[in-house]
Amino acid sequence: MANTSDLAWWQKTIAYEVYPKSFLDTVGQGTGTLAGITAKLDYLQKLGVGAMWITPCYKSPMVDNGYDVQDYYNIDPSFGSMDNMNELIARGREHGIRVVMDLVFNHTSEECAWFVESRASKDNPKADWYIWRDAKPDGSAPTNWRSIFGGSAWEWCEERGQYYLHTFAKQQPDLNWENPQVRQALFDIANYWAEKGVGGFRIDAITYIKKPPTFEDGPADGEDGLYPVHAATANQPGILDFLHEFKAAVRDGRDIFMVGEANGVAADELSQWVGEDGVFDMLFEFSHTHVPMGDAEIWCRPVTWELTDLKRALAASQEATRTNGWYPVFFENHDQPRSTVNFFRCDGPLASKAKVLGTVLLTTRGTPFLYQGEELGYGNATWKSIDEFDDVQTRAQYDFAKTEGLSDDEALAACVRFSRDNARTPMQWDATDNAGFSSAKPWLPVHDDYATHNVAALEADECSVLAWYRTLVNLRLGNDVFLAGDWHELLSDDNNILAFERTLGDARVVTLANFSNERVTYDASLVEGLTLLAGSEGDAVAGELRPLEALVWG
Ligand code: NOJ
Repeated sequence: MANTSDLAWWQKTIAYEVYPKSFLDTVGQGTGTLAGITAKLDYLQKLGVGAMWITPCYKSPMVDNGYDVQDYYNIDPSFGSMDNMNELIARGREHGIRVVMDLVFNHTSEECAWFVESRASKDNPKADWYIWRDAKPDGSAPTNWRSIFGGSAWEWCEERGQYYLHTFAKQQPDLNWENPQVRQALFDIANYWAEKGVGGFRIDAITYIKKPPTFEDGPADGEDGLYPVHAATANQPGILDFLHEFKAAVRDGRDIFMVGEANGVAADELSQWVGEDGVFDMLFEFSHTHVPMGDAEIWCRPVTWELTDLKRALAASQEATRTNGWYPVFFENHDQPRSTVNFFRCDGPLASKAKVLGTVLLTTRGTPFLYQGEELGYGNATWKSIDEFDDVQTRAQYDFAKTEGLSDDEALAACVRFSRDNARTPMQWDATDNAGFSSAKPWLPVHDDYATHNVAALEADECSVLAWYRTLVNLRLGNDVFLAGDWHELLSDDNNILAFERTLGDARVVTLANFSNERVTYDASLVEGLTLLAGSEGDAVAGELRPLEALVWG
């Protein structure tokens, strides 16, 4: 096994995802700003953060909160200016924090100048920069594919007399990566940002860039008669050729990292994607988030799962990156409900649940990716009506749930449980109005509990989730075994305890996390000769775990 000296900087740090619209508003507009992120660099530094992934802040009509990019070379005015971005990059470096930009390269906004030109005619210079097809003879869409956000993945364009493909919302037309000019234009954008000194890139929706050679209808899997575009187009043969070209043009020769968002890549395929011969340094794959949520497109159907299912998924990703590549460990991001709700099947205090997950996150092998607020132990927000949601996907999913036969109340309940907006409510900084996030009404409501559940309050409480995160971060960054050690699962059949050991030379540490709200026992010999390094509920006795307790022995 490697020593820490063999690891790159991004393998030895904590990564943190910022959703800028909800982080901190410095101008009183109800949405966050880049200056707001700069203002909180001390907070992030204290959390051990060395890489900060910022979701898209380019100029955008914001149909999908920035994942519909109009101009990749400019900052959206709602976030500030390029000067604010340059300052954030520079001040971040002073704090030991490198900015990671989000590259949205599967699609653009319909308002991107490329698309405006492309849709104008069939013979303009950018005519085939997007995926255009004729209608079927009866005038209907070229295939019965359903977009990821619901409804047909094809939109009719009157101007051009053809349909265009959109894997996501209709305002997000898919680019045609087969065209070398498109690829070059995208690589130029990445190089522009790399030259600014960012620490890396998160690459959005990358498994959709290669389309199949022929476009055909698929068997309907829902009452709407449509077939998931994901099943038709994700992870097509040949995709890695595009990505090797991308890597050579952007990554090679630079001390940065690239992490791909790769829905549709299974754990056993990871070795082709990451590592020496792969295309990315790390890959976000979703086998573990699919355990409690099921298939994202038909999420309103009930899912049953056991802790052992979650453990199998996590273990498979660890196995796949054991000798090749590196794993980005995550439980939350801006597309998931809050993890304290998502990954538990029992009742119990949110703070205890957050500590259990935080323990796994921060002691596993790989680079931990925290999502803003995870370190505070939020639950999902309180939603009373579908009108309170902002998210384009949630609204589409609500409609889809009803076509599946759910009542209004059932469809709302599914959104309350699963909506991405649960992760997007404003950061709660203190007990002042709007949780210190903004002096204006925030774009999404803050949680009802913000007066007591906020950064300032948690900083004053040495038993808080935030304090636990800081304890574990210090433990991790101060002990090579957590960074470079091998990972082996323990108690793999246990349906209450998630357990693993990390080993490096003579060093051995053991993590035990009780995901049930009951006292459980385990074979005390697992921790024989070890002492307690950290206990989420205080002291501990070898061989047993209190309800929702996590322990690190070493
Ligand atoms: C994945 C992003 O994480 C999500 O927020 C976005 O809606 C889609 N890709 C489309 O860009």
